[in-house]
Amino acid sequence: MLKPDACIFDLDGVIVETSDAHFKAWRRLAESLGISFGEEFNEQLKGVSRRKSIEKILALDGRKLPEEEIQRLMDKKNGWYQDAIAELAPDDILEGVPEFLEVLQEMEIPIGIGSSSKNAQYIIDYLQLNDTFEVIIDGTKVENTKPDPEVFLKGAKALNSDPSKTIVFEDAASGVEAANNGRFISVGVGSEEYLGDADLVIPDFIGLTPEKLFKKLSDK
Ligand code: BG6
Ligand code: MG
Repeated sequence: MLKPDACIFDLDGVIVETSDAHFKAWRRLAESLGISFGEEFNEQLKGVSRRKSIEKILALDGRKLPEEEIQRLMDKKNGWYQDAIAELAPDDILEGVPEFLEVLQEMEIPIGIGSSSKNAQYIIDYLQLNDTFEVIIDGTKVENTKPDPEVFLKGAKALNSDPSKTIVFEDAASGVEAANNGRFISVGVGSEEYLGDADLVIPDFIGLTPEKLFKKLSDK
């Protein structure tokens, strides 16, 4: 592939490292309930909605809680998480990402965000990326969480792109699955161990140009 129709980026863990703040807030909440989990289980929480995350945590010990309590716990976790991200600033954008996005813009390739998070708009504001992305589809705009492809399909529609010619960048296994389920070109950002189902896995954006990436994809 020489030039895709568009590129859609997941936010948490791709544009900025917020995954650890999610992990710590969920772990703190779980511990307050006497449930413990580690980094390996946390991989299953990446990319999925707040609701799905708490369901997965409660399922760890078969816990059943009333709806109001579940809501209260999600709010508590979100409060801790929002405190943790309140200091985010443009400098926190992951290394190599600004240059990569800039070249895509120069190439006139439309770019969008496809995130499960209901905090995405806050993060975009903190990072001052509002004018960078043409389209932002986040957790407030979808009904079905990744691995359902809804978030990316809505993104492609808004960007006027054909999924099979649109690249999705994802750090979560559920996100790679969502991209594959929507017949997108999937690029995993992180480790092969968790993202092996992607069409291509890159460790990060450091030193990567869109041209190099497109060549790697077309050589596959
Ligand atoms: C995803 C994160 O981007 O958003 C998940 O990878 C998170 O870890 C999900 O649970 C929902 O986020 P929020 O901010 O709406 O609780
Ligand atoms: Mg992510």
